[in-house]
Amino acid sequence: MPKIVVLPGDGIGPEIVASAIEVLKVVAPDLEYDEHKFGGASIDAYGEPFTAATQEAVQTADAVLLGSIGGAQDSHWNTLPRHLRPESGLLALRKALGVYANLRPIKVYEGMEHLSPLKPELARGVDVLVVRELLGGVYFDPERYIRDDEGFNAMRYKKHEVERIARVAFKAAQGRRNKVTSVDKANVLEVSEFWRREVVKVQQAEYSDVALNHEYVDSVAMLLVTNPSRYDVIVTENLFGDILSDLGAVLPGSLGLMPSASLGDGAGLYEPIHGSAPDIAGQGIANPTATILSAALLLRYSLNRPEAADRIDAAVLKALNENPTKDLGGTAGTQEFTQTVLNVLKETVTA
Ligand code: NAD
Ligand code: IPM
Ligand code: MN
Repeated sequence: MPKIVVLPGDGIGPEIVASAIEVLKVVAPDLEYDEHKFGGASIDAYGEPFTAATQEAVQTADAVLLGSIGGAQDSHWNTLPRHLRPESGLLALRKALGVYANLRPIKVYEGMEHLSPLKPELARGVDVLVVRELLGGVYFDPERYIRDDEGFNAMRYKKHEVERIARVAFKAAQGRRNKVTSVDKANVLEVSEFWRREVVKVQQAEYSDVALNHEYVDSVAMLLVTNPSRYDVIVTENLFGDILSDLGAVLPGSLGLMPSASLGDGAGLYEPIHGSAPDIAGQGIANPTATILSAALLLRYSLNRPEAADRIDAAVLKALNENPTKDLGGTAGTQEFTQTVLNVLKETVTA
């Protein structure tokens, strides 16, 4: 029986994870779940965001499903020493799993253009895969400090880090429209110039069938929302990928629609790209779609169950049309929306 470690986390995390598990139980009833406190919830219970017991559990998992972590700007968690904050737990989790490749699909499904704030002709057919490097760059560089007179972080990339993420992007492109855009700031940063050089080398040596171009991150921020159809696969470093993927959420219409899969050599980590949404936590109105679709990615990538994943994708699509959530201008709360997804799944079984 595949073991899924479940980390509901903070804020809306427990609400949206509960929805995803209800859906998983219908399409993959044989999975075993092992739930642990994580992030702020773990800090409050045990004094640290990612305990040794949780670390041990994720090491033996087939996959990890995460809600979201963190508190509001004025949360008591934000004044703790940095290594004891919720976000540090998340970074440590990614590192422990070795998940260096974060896949963040930005997709506007057919018939869903009306949910986008963009003109329908711009939103129609958008299908971009952001491949975000997840274990390097300014997030993880060991040289870092905050002092009375200065703060410091560094963006550094090693050859093998660029090579492995480039390979993920090229491979993904081969199963799509065969085009990779590498996003950097090579006009200013040496680390970007290096990134670009190594990406080109990988392409020339191993993926000469895939088209590669290079764009600057500031320009991509504009083009991603004014001309999204120009992109197939975007590969970029950690921080740029973080920012561009939240921006990309504008295309389908809500952060609540954006799933992700984080992959490495071991178990995968699946989480929505959004945070714990403290402003709406506990109100029962969070959109669980991103987490439900992340569960579908889990079935697809970690458990090799594409049919079950397809069933979830199709049911979510139908439910979004029938009964959209509040963030999309509809009226459904978390539970009503989840029930709609479950109803659609039931119909497809009897159909
Ligand atoms: P956020 O993503 O939590 O929220 C941004 C806005 O989007 C809010 O208005 C929120 O209500 C809305 N939103 C997000 N998800 C939604 C959903 N599923 N349905 C409906 N609306 C949704 O970003 P933030 O407010 O900047 O961060 C809050 C906390 O989350 C911080 O502590 C931050 O560090 C953390 N965070 C965690 C993760 C993660 O766990 N992977 C990701 C991003 C931010
Ligand atoms: C995300 C989040 C995290 C990140 C934070 C909470 C550490 O913003 O998953 O996108 O920056 O990676
Ligand atoms: Mn983010």
